[in-house]
Amino acid sequence: MADAVGNKVAKDYHLDISVPQDGFFAKGLGNTDWGMKNRLSRLFNPISGNSMMLAFDHGYIMGCTAGLERLDVSIAPLCPYADVLMGTRGAIRSCIPPTANQALCLRATHDSSVLFDDMSQGSGLALDMEDALRMNASALAIQCFVGGAGERDSLDALCRAADAGYRYGVPILGVTAVGKEMERTSKYFLLATRILAELGASIVKTYYCDEFEKVAAGCPVPIVIAGGKKLPEADALTMAYRAIQSGARGVDMGRNIFQSQHPIAMCQAVGKVVHEAFTDREAYQFYLHQINS
Ligand code: 5RP
Repeated sequence: MADAVGNKVAKDYHLDISVPQDGFFAKGLGNTDWGMKNRLSRLFNPISGNSMMLAFDHGYIMGCTAGLERLDVSIAPLCPYADVLMGTRGAIRSCIPPTANQALCLRATHDSSVLFDDMSQGSGLALDMEDALRMNASALAIQCFVGGAGERDSLDALCRAADAGYRYGVPILGVTAVGKEMERTSKYFLLATRILAELGASIVKTYYCDEFEKVAAGCPVPIVIAGGKKLPEADALTMAYRAIQSGARGVDMGRNIFQSQHPIAMCQAVGKVVHEAFTDREAYQFYLHQINS
C-alpha cells in the first residue's frame, strides 16, 4: 500500500503527449463493450468528441431552485439545444416529454438536503439499474464526497453503480462534489477526479480551477465541468472556453443556462464553444446576436 506521507509530488502530466485512441474517440474507454460505447456516443458527439449537458437536477437537494420552479416551462423548451439531459427520474418522468431524444444522464444518488449544514455528510443510491434502463438512460450520475464525512458511503455507491454499469453497458458519471468546508483547489480536484475514475467512473464531472490542464490530463477518462453559481453570460462562456481549451470534453451546466434571461441563446452559445471551437468572445457575440435578432 502506498504511504500517504513521503510520496513524491506528482508533477509530470506529459501535456505534450496525446492519449492513444484505442479505436474509440472517447479517452480511456476503448476497451469497453459495444453497448457502453453506443451510450457514450449518444452522450458525446463522436465528431467533436464533446458534450453539452444541461443539468437541472438541483431540486433533489434544493427543492424549488430559482429558474426550476416549473420544469415543464423552463427546461422542456431547452431540451432540443442540449446533447444530454441531466435530472432526477422524478423530474424527467413528470415534466420532460418522452419524445425528447437527447441522451439522459439520471441523477442516481440522494444526498443531504439544504436543510442540513453540510451536504457532504452522506449519499446513497437513489434508483436501481432496472429503472434506469426502463427510462433508457445513457448514464447515471453519482455524487462523491472525497475528503468529506460522506466519503465512504458515496464511494461505495459509486462502486456499486459501476458494477451494475459494466454489467449492463451504462457509463457512470462520477461527480466530485464539494461540501461546505471542502477546498476547491487544483490539488483537491486532481485527487478527487482520479479517485473517481480509478473506482470505475467512465466520465468525471468536476469544477473548473487553476491548472485545469493537469486535472484533465491526470484523469484517464473524459472530464466535464459543472457551471456553478450564476455568472454574467460573458464570464460563464469564458469559463467554458478555458475548460475546453484545457482538456475538458464538455460542460454539464445548469444555473448559468436556466437562470439566464435568455436561456435558449445561452445554451446555443455554450454549444458553440463545446462543439464548434468558438472562442469565448465569438460565443458571446453570437449570444448578443441571438438576443437582439
Ligand atoms: C451538483 C450537480 C449539478 O448538476 C451541477 O452543479 C450542475 O449545475 P450548475 O451548473 O448549476 O452548478 O451535479 O453536484
